[in-house]
Amino acid sequence: MDSKPEHGGQVRRLWSSDKTEFRNHLLRLDEESRHSRFGGAVSPEFLTSYAERCFGFDDVIYGFVVDGVIRGAGELRGIGHGLPFGFGGSAEAAFSVEEGWRRQGVGARLMARIVRAARNRRAGSLYMSCLTSNGAMLALARKFSAQVRREPDEAYAALSPRGPTAQTLFDEFSDEMSGFATAMVDLQRRAFSVRPD
Ligand SMILES: CC(C)(COP(=O)(O)OP(=O)(O)OC[C@H]1O[C@@H](n2cnc3c(N)ncnc32)[C@H](O)[C@@H]1OP(=O)(O)O)[C@@H](O)C(=O)NCCC(=O)NCCS
Repeated sequence: MDSKPEHGGQVRRLWSSDKTEFRNHLLRLDEESRHSRFGGAVSPEFLTSYAERCFGFDDVIYGFVVDGVIRGAGELRGIGHGLPFGFGGSAEAAFSVEEGWRRQGVGARLMARIVRAARNRRAGSLYMSCLTSNGAMLALARKFSAQVRREPDEAYAALSPRGPTAQTLFDEFSDEMSGFATAMVDLQRRAFSVRPD
C-alpha cells in the first residue's frame, strides 16, 4: 500500500470535495510548469474551468496532500469513446507537482498509483505525452519502463499495464477507504477554517 505520509504528506485519491483545492494546486503552478503540464500557455480561467470538469465518472485523480493542501496530482482518464476504459481500452495520464515539492519522489508515488489504477481497470495501454524538452516527465516515465517515442515537438510514453491481481485490487480498495476518510477530515478542516469565530 502506498498511502503512508512522506515528506509530511500523503498520496490519496481525490474526490469532488477536493475540487477547489485541486484548482488551487493548478493555479499555483508557475507559467513554465503550466506550459509543461498542458503543452501550451493556459490562463487561470482555463485552469478553473478545467478543474470543474475533472471529477467525472471515468476520472481517477490522486493527490499528494500536505496539511490539507494539494501539492501534486496524477490524473488518469480513458481515451476515446467516453465509456469507462476498462477491459482493454486505452487511458492517458498527466502529472503536476509544485516546484517546492519536486525531486523528492512525489511524481513517482503518484505514477505508481496511476499505474495500479490503470491495471485494476484493465486498461490495455497507458499513454503520457509531453514536450520533447520535458526531461523530468520523460525520466519519470522511463522509471516505470515506459516506451518513449520522440517527435520534433512532442514526446509520447506508453506502458502496457499488467492485469489486476487480488493484491492490487485489495491494495487500491484499502487505500481508497483510508484516503476517503482523510478527504473527509480535510473537508471538515476547510469548513472550520472559513467559519467565523
Ligand atoms: C514531471 C514531474 C511531475 C516530476 O515530478 P517529481 O516529483 O519531481 O518526480 P520524482 O521526484 O518522482 O522523480 C522521478 C524521476 O524523474 C527524475 N527527474 C525528476 N525531475 C527531473 C529533472 N528535472 N531532470 C531529470 N530527471 C528528473 C528523478 O531523478 C526521478 O528518477 P530517479 O528516482 O531515478 O532519480 C514534475 O517535474 C512536474 O510537475 N513538472 C511540471 C508539469 C509537467 O511537466 N507534467 C508532465 C506533463 S503531463
